[in-house]
Parts: sequence; C-alpha cells; structure tokens
Amino acid sequence: MNIKIQIINGPNLNLLGKREPEIYGHVTMEQIETKTKEHSSKKNIDVDFYQSNIEGEIVNKIQDVSEKVSGLIINAAAFTHTSVAILDALNTLTIPKIEIHLSNIYAREEFRHKSMISKSVNGVICGFGLNSYILAVDAIENILKK
Ligand code: DQA
Repeated sequence: MNIKIQIINGPNLNLLGKREPEIYGHVTMEQIETKTKEHSSKKNIDVDFYQSNIEGEIVNKIQDVSEKVSGLIINAAAFTHTSVAILDALNTLTIPKIEIHLSNIYAREEFRHKSMISKSVNGVICGFGLNSYILAVDAIENILKK
C-alpha cells in the first residue's frame, strides 16, 4: 500500500516567491509542491498539499485528514508561535507528524523561537528552504518503516 502524506501550509505561504525573498528565497509554493511530489513519487509516496491563511480552516483540515493519511507535515507559519487550537487538533492524531519551516526560526527574532505545536510532533525540521519539505517526507517514511 502506498504511503499517503498530507502537507499543510499556514498563512502567507501562498505568497512565497514574492514574500521577503531575502528570508524565504524566490521559490514559489507551486515549485515546492512540484519538487516534493517528484521526490515522493519515486518512493511510491502520495503527497497532497493544502494551504490556508485561516486558523480554523487548518484545524478543520487536521480533523478531516485524521486517520485517512499515514503521515502529516505541517508548516503552520505564523500560527506556529500562537495557536493552541492547532496544537489541540494535532494532539488528536496518532499518525507521525513533522513540523517544518523554510527558515531557521532559531536564528530569527526571539518570538519565533517558541513553537506552540512542537510538543505534538515527532520532530522538527527547519532552515533548509524547499528541502525542509523533502526531508520531512523522508522522515515520515523512516518512522513508518520502523
Ligand atoms: C515559517 C517561519 C515562521 O516564523 C513565519 O511566520 C512563517 C514561515 C518558515 O517556514 O520559515 O510564515 O514557518
């Protein structure tokens, strides 16, 4: 059976490419999706990308995928640092979960050093740009193969 992974992206990640390129580079979310799918399909891993700027929609999506997928990757963007609602939703899932960030949040402003959601995930990958997504797919695969 193929591994299915849901990738959830939070606010402003739809603007990648135009948004603060000095931090996030010039890569767009579309390009991240293409590269991540290229990498995953070689391993028979199905990946679905979802993005929302709205906290409640992200909570709904987490509830919706629930046990329908084998793993979840989340870049909650700014909600990482604020959202108890997303933490609580993640806590309802028993599948492997990886938190990711394009940038190294620990090398940035102090308010980004705190993640509300890390407590609920198997691991955190940050600072590798587009590769954070690809590394997270491999991390989920590793957890599932154990
Ligand atoms: C981010 C880091 C967050 O602090 C920020 O609010 C984002 C993007 C990242 O991918 O580096 O929107 O999650």
